[in-house]
Amino acid sequence: MKKTRKKPTETDVIGHRGERWLYTSIVKEHFFHPKNIFTSDKEADMYERTADGVGQVGSPKCGDVMRMYIKVDKETDTIKECRWKTFGCCSAIASTSILSEMVIGMTLDKAKKITPLDIVKALGGLPARKIHCSVLGDQALRAAIEDYKKRKR
Ligand code: FES
Repeated sequence: MKKTRKKPTETDVIGHRGERWLYTSIVKEHFFHPKNIFTSDKEADMYERTADGVGQVGSPKCGDVMRMYIKVDKETDTIKECRWKTFGCCSAIASTSILSEMVIGMTLDKAKKITPLDIVKALGGLPARKIHCSVLGDQALRAAIEDYKKRKR
């Protein structure tokens, strides 16, 4: 009797516990071509001097770090630029890349209402174990907005 083989599941990465992760084409695009990212610390340091708000957060779940910088139109409290750098994984890079595009032109109040779920939806989904990675950019953005508000007072 002929043995039937199981059709292989489409997989991009096999996790350390054997779980199979599939990333959407949007995630891959933002991971391989991240938007608004700094490619060197020198560039980020130079930019920080003229940034209106800076926020940094670390993930207690994995120890990764995200630092985000915003420039704001002070008349309208609208985000003009959003740049960032990270020691984070593929999902953190993709999440923050798409977030940095979403918030440009947005008021600070509206940007603060963006949730990690909004980011995951914009990416077309993330593997369940990687959802926490989308929180890093979201929290760094909130910290940068708070920093801007503090400086403004
Ligand atoms: S595993 Fe650390 S941010 Fe994704």
